[in-house]
Amino acid sequence: MELNTVRAIVTGAARGLGGHFVLELLRSGAHVAAGDIDIPGLRRLKLAAEGLPGALFVAPLDVADERATVAFIDQAWSRLGGLNVLINNAGILRDGLLVRQEAEGRAGKLPSSQWSKVLEVNLTGAFLMARELAARLLDERVREGVIVNVSSLARAGNPGQSSYAASKAGLDAATRTWALELAPFGIRVGGVAPGVIDTPILEGVSDASLAGLKEAIPLGRLGRPDEVWLAVKFIIECDFFTGRTVEVDGGAAMGGA
Ligand SMILES: NC(=O)c1ccc[n+]([C@@H]2O[C@H](COP(=O)([O-])OP(=O)(O)OC[C@H]3O[C@@H](n4cnc5c(N)ncnc54)[C@H](O)[C@@H]3O)[C@@H](O)[C@H]2O)c1
Repeated sequence: MELNTVRAIVTGAARGLGGHFVLELLRSGAHVAAGDIDIPGLRRLKLAAEGLPGALFVAPLDVADERATVAFIDQAWSRLGGLNVLINNAGILRDGLLVRQEAEGRAGKLPSSQWSKVLEVNLTGAFLMARELAARLLDERVREGVIVNVSSLARAGNPGQSSYAASKAGLDAATRTWALELAPFGIRVGGVAPGVIDTPILEGVSDASLAGLKEAIPLGRLGRPDEVWLAVKFIIECDFFTGRTVEVDGGAAMGGA
């Protein structure tokens, strides 16, 4: 698919990777509908996009709210005059160990609300958006579409991140499943699994943890959003690509020698 023919939805678009994907798409002449729960962030995105060739529509979107996803796809379809790309980027972290040995009393437990919230946003949110877009493409007899799911290096499992890891591994399984189901309709589905990328999601991570994370990256540094964008761009542009997840992690997923 040529980038200047793209009519894309980007979720979690107000900042970080999502914001970067929106600006790159607009620079290439694509039209974009950007959704996020962060309304001031969407306003800042709109300002940053001024003067770029593509058209930008921004609206509030909570991907975990089924009715909101249906309404957003409807609005985006009419504002952009159709859709052919979805980047399922919205994602959150609520880290914590499954159980903790406390000095006194009984073991501490990961609250189930914390587990559910991450699954709702990262996995159910992506499912709702993909389902609504795919249904709309079928209804409108559009025979070309691309869905990109933003997974993570953590999909392989990471202590303290059971909900996040499970959501991202689930997203990979969905990528492969939807790729098989949707191929007959000309809809391709790919994933990107970034390693540690320098975005605001890292704000809560201590300097010591960041140093440890860097040490585990063979290339010895954090990644940048523009480096993840290259993988997203490849998935959109390469018409023979579907069902796989591309790792952009400085070699981190290879593990130690
Ligand atoms: N930065 C990294 O190191 C890294 C690594 C691997 C994967 N990822 C993934 O990349 C994606 C983007 O991460 P980022 O680093 O840009 O994070 P970020 O926190 O900077 O941006 C995430 C955006 O998602 C939005 N969001 C949160 N909940 C939402 C909801 N319910 N509905 C709609 N939007 C919502 C937030 O408001 C925010 O704007 C996430 O899926 C994340 O898991 C990031």
